[in-house]
Amino acid sequence: MNIQSNYDQWAASYDSDENKTRDLDKRVSQQTLRNYDFKTVLEIGCGTGKNTNWLRAHCSYLLAVDFSEEMLAIAKEKIKDPRVRFHQADITQAWEFTKGLFDLITCNLILEHIEDVDFVFQQSAYKLHKKGLFFISEYHPFKQYLGKQARFEKNGETVLIPSYTHHVSEFIAAGKKNDFELVELKEWMNEHEDEDKIPRILSLVFRII
Ligand SMILES: C[S@@+](CC[C@H](N)C(=O)[O-])C[C@H]1O[C@@H](n2cnc3c(N)ncnc32)[C@H](O)[C@@H]1O
Repeated sequence: MNIQSNYDQWAASYDSDENKTRDLDKRVSQQTLRNYDFKTVLEIGCGTGKNTNWLRAHCSYLLAVDFSEEMLAIAKEKIKDPRVRFHQADITQAWEFTKGLFDLITCNLILEHIEDVDFVFQQSAYKLHKKGLFFISEYHPFKQYLGKQARFEKNGETVLIPSYTHHVSEFIAAGKKNDFELVELKEWMNEHEDEDKIPRILSLVFRII
């Protein structure tokens, strides 16, 4: 079973399953991005549109990309807005799905599934306006060190979705290599629910130089 078919299978229950990481990511994204100005957005790995819905209200054009047909189908069903275009593509291939340049590229809970993070920074650099922003909100590698990864329940069984661990330094190095400056880095947890007190989400905002 590969990552794409895993997400096709998870799609129907992705929004309704209990998922502390998904819910925290939503809060992290809004709290972070409300401090920045942007008009055009490229959302990578939009899934069922959890963040698309907030982003669309804060921009004039949003291109939302994902390779799971079933995740996209749910997003399209929920979001009918002329400002939003959905597109099915694998972001590990060259980003030829758009010729446009964007003010902001967002990446939520997807890089865990991408082996070559440097490639994503490289493609983002090509697709941003000068001074454009690249926002990452990702499952914190500290959790991965404890053996945690994206998972869901199907027919009474736990399905583990193939994941790669990226150390914090990898994100920083990839940014530097691709001409980004780091604007902010934060670590987030659910204060009352995460008993282990280990950060659940790592967020980074980069700006292309
Ligand atoms: C955990 S979900 C996150 C969805 C959404 N960003 C959110 O925060 O709820 C990860 C998403 O990344 C997508 N994805 C994973 N690898 C991808 C790839 N190589 N190309 C495009 N989408 C990918 C999956 O299909 C899935 O919808």
